[in-house]
Amino acid sequence: MLLILTLSLSLVIGTCHSTTYEGHKVYKLYPTTPAHNEFLTSLKSTEFDFWSPINNVGKPVTVMASPQVQKKFEKKLKKHKISYELEIDNLQSTIDQEKKYHEDKLGIAFDHYLRHSEINNYLDQLAQNYPNIVSVGTIGTSYENRTMKTITISAKPGPKPVIFIEAGMHAREWIAPALSLYIINQLVENPSYGFLQDVDWVILPVMNPDGYEYTWTTDRMWRKTRSPGSSCNGTDGNRNFGFHWMEKGASGSECSETYAGSEAFSEIETQNLRNVLNKTGNITAFISLHSYGQYLFYPYSYDYVRADNWKELAFLAHKVNDVIKSVNGTEYTIGNSAEVLYPAAGCSDDWAMGGAGVRLVYVFELPGGGKYGFDLPPEKILGVCEETWEGIKVIADYVVQNCK
Ligand SMILES: *[C@@H]1O[C@H](CO)[C@@H](O)[C@H](O)[C@H]1NC(C)=O
Ligand SMILES: *[C@@H]1O[C@H](CO)[C@@H](O)[C@H](O)[C@H]1NC(C)=O
Ligand SMILES: *[C@@H]1O[C@H](CO)[C@@H](O)[C@H](O)[C@H]1NC(C)=O
Ligand SMILES: *[C@@H]1O[C@H](CO)[C@@H](O)[C@H](O)[C@H]1NC(C)=O
Ligand SMILES: *[C@@H]1O[C@H](CO)[C@@H](O)[C@H](O)[C@H]1NC(C)=O
Ligand SMILES: [Zn+2]
Repeated sequence: MLLILTLSLSLVIGTCHSTTYEGHKVYKLYPTTPAHNEFLTSLKSTEFDFWSPINNVGKPVTVMASPQVQKKFEKKLKKHKISYELEIDNLQSTIDQEKKYHEDKLGIAFDHYLRHSEINNYLDQLAQNYPNIVSVGTIGTSYENRTMKTITISAKPGPKPVIFIEAGMHAREWIAPALSLYIINQLVENPSYGFLQDVDWVILPVMNPDGYEYTWTTDRMWRKTRSPGSSCNGTDGNRNFGFHWMEKGASGSECSETYAGSEAFSEIETQNLRNVLNKTGNITAFISLHSYGQYLFYPYSYDYVRADNWKELAFLAHKVNDVIKSVNGTEYTIGNSAEVLYPAAGCSDDWAMGGAGVRLVYVFELPGGGKYGFDLPPEKILGVCEETWEGIKVIADYVVQNCK
């Protein structure tokens, strides 16, 4: 859900081959005053790509700059006395390393990222190996006709509360699909959890398969869907849901990273998710996985409006955070997302609550690993999965205890 602004146009336009990030640098800024934040806000719609939100809670802000604008950017920072350090000297070599790592490995392991077809194959393989508890369905196809598969994990028949997990709305946030696969793997192949008897799980690992594949083949930093526009392609799926659509924090401009689409649910992928949420009875918890920034949000996102049960949501979020923190010290900032960051209308979390009536709704902005942001290196996948899974289990336990 992070608000990310335009990649420099030269990158996005006219690429018939891979977008390159040769010489692109990534900076970590440490704004300390409201004036710093104001200045950074004024830069946001320009040629600098903000990877993490400007915030009032003292978190650093990560920005990518192309070789053409680096001198200018550093000058501006110095002039406004904003301290910074260089996170990545050459983004392309980081991306190349990640790809090479993948080419060397195969199979389900949490030491590398998987292509969309590999993810679908894993789901099908589980359905074959565990027919008593696993079924794989499709909620439809993407714009480019990729199959959007969900896996349903249900250890015994009969009506139970459902936990629905959606991942991969934003293409470049690779850790989100990876975590969803880890959750599936734990539930199905390592099932030592009592709550499997009392909850059904429905998991959609890749909400934006076209964008996801595009990050593998063409532009590692792509965020949106791949539906065509006239001046720029793609819509931000997480501004496209039909609940207070386009009110705040969404853009009507095609080239924006937060383009909300020509109308609510203009995207086939958001239609598919809407339909499945509407159709699946008894969804008690809806969890949307994103990266990065270590935020744990509850609705609503569209404005400074809290859910009726926000106290319950906040209480549970703090328990989730405590448990995650106890694993390896990772801490989340918790709150209503509009209040913690900024309003953002049209997100799936708002639709899940406001449209589909789900009681417990959360957005995880997973850790970025501290160094690479969306490029969380493969050797860090497992640690993030293990600690976050402990938090997800807290939600599942709560559902079992309180939501029968
Ligand atoms: C998707 O499949 C349909 C039906 O086969 C076809 O008409 C359409 O052109 C395909 N779309 C893309 C983007 O390939
Ligand atoms: C949009 O995508 C199409 C392919 O689907 C491509 O031909 C076109 O150049 C893209 N437009 C822009 C502005 O990148
Ligand atoms: C939802 O759960 C309730 C109680 O557990 C059950 O009576 C009902 O049939 C369930 N509905 C669906 C659609 O599963
Ligand atoms: C869910 O589907 C039903 C039946 O098609 C429809 O009447 C209802 O309006 C839908 N609800 C939402 C929130 O879309
Ligand atoms: C635990 O945190 C430390 C410090 O941030 C980090 O270096 C290490 O990789 C983490 N371990 C796991 C398993 O994630
Ligand atoms: Zn996101």
